Amino acid sequence: MPLLAARVSRARQSASAAAAQRARELRAAGKSIIELAQGEPDFKTPDHVIEAAHRAMHAGQTHYTPVDGTPELKAAIVAKFRRENGIECKPENVSAGAGGKQVLFNALMATLDPGDEVLIPAPSWVAYADITHFAEGVPVWVPTQPENGFKLTPEGLEKAISKKAKWLMLNSPSNPSGAVYSAGELRALAQVLERHPQLLIISDDMYEHVLFDGREFATLAAVAPQLAPRTLTVNGVSKTFAMTGWRLGYACGPVELIRGMARLQAQSSLNPSSVSQAAAVAALNGPMDIVHARNAEFQARRDFIVPRLAAIPGLSCESPHGAFYVYVSCEGWMGKRTPQGTTLDDDAAVTAYLLENGVALPNGAGYGLSPYFRVSFASALPNLEEACRRISAAAAALR
Ligand SMILES: Cc1ncc(COP(=O)(O)O)c(C=O)c1O
Repeated sequence: MPLLAARVSRARQSASAAAAQRARELRAAGKSIIELAQGEPDFKTPDHVIEAAHRAMHAGQTHYTPVDGTPELKAAIVAKFRRENGIECKPENVSAGAGGKQVLFNALMATLDPGDEVLIPAPSWVAYADITHFAEGVPVWVPTQPENGFKLTPEGLEKAISKKAKWLMLNSPSNPSGAVYSAGELRALAQVLERHPQLLIISDDMYEHVLFDGREFATLAAVAPQLAPRTLTVNGVSKTFAMTGWRLGYACGPVELIRGMARLQAQSSLNPSSVSQAAAVAALNGPMDIVHARNAEFQARRDFIVPRLAAIPGLSCESPHGAFYVYVSCEGWMGKRTPQGTTLDDDAAVTAYLLENGVALPNGAGYGLSPYFRVSFASALPNLEEACRRISAAAAALR
């Protein structure tokens, strides 16, 4: 009898985590590696948030809390959704977990029966497909076109919806493409969704505050309130407040779903860290000027890196409208030979070659669209500059 259950084979390591891990190993072996793989801001958690966590610990907030969030946190989340998004919800519509990832995991685990389909625009964050597999659902990649900015069109969505479709995943600004849906585009998708009342929708708004060129953020439950009763709006403090390590994400949605998610969380991790919850209250209720200043910094980095990457022979990319990633096509490298004699026949070979040249990046396959790789620009300008230099040199060495 094998030691591990079959379900373990359904929990795969993500390309970005694998690339980051390989970078750590190579660095430990003394190699110079620039890691633009992991999706986290390189900034510090704001001081007022850290101070709130200290205060909470000294005040004895170091015990179990209600499973899916303290009343203070739920109140802060309700206020955030009203103030920033125009979504009306009550504390019983709200769930907090150890990161947006746990919230998404709870939602899919609580609702998918074997064979249920999850519609995932390609490209999308790797975890959607992996969690779907884990929950015994079937990920269905829905094609998008670079000409449409990698966004779902109403026609493309309509075509993808089958009788078995249970969830649609929407993510704007998008990891990995930086695509941003306008309110009008969401309304057009909502018209299709209204014709399919069995379909639930996840709106993953994790990168809400990383938005460029003065664009306005729009979210489905606000622009199409008739869909709010079957929409789970997911967000978190990781990306907005540089709090990836605190592990605190949250969502609002229909009460029945929220209760189901809490039942699962009660039998796994129980409440998210009490200290992180107190910190998240301070983050959500606190000033936003630091968030806006960091957004400007991300935009400056985008403006730095995108033209440099696009100028490298064989690579092409669009300028992302939000989030801190650029999704780079390496179509022009396919079939080329490296100085070591390897033929580049897929994007995994490309990222392996770039790693040999000192840059760690995840390849596109896990995101559902190849041949591409993803570059995170949540890193200081000198790193971005050196990474571009190394990728350029790697391009020049191809035959
Ligand atoms: C699109 C998207 N959603 C959700 C998350 C989850 O973030 P966290 O679990 O840190 O809240 C991530 C993290 O990379 C992401 O890229």
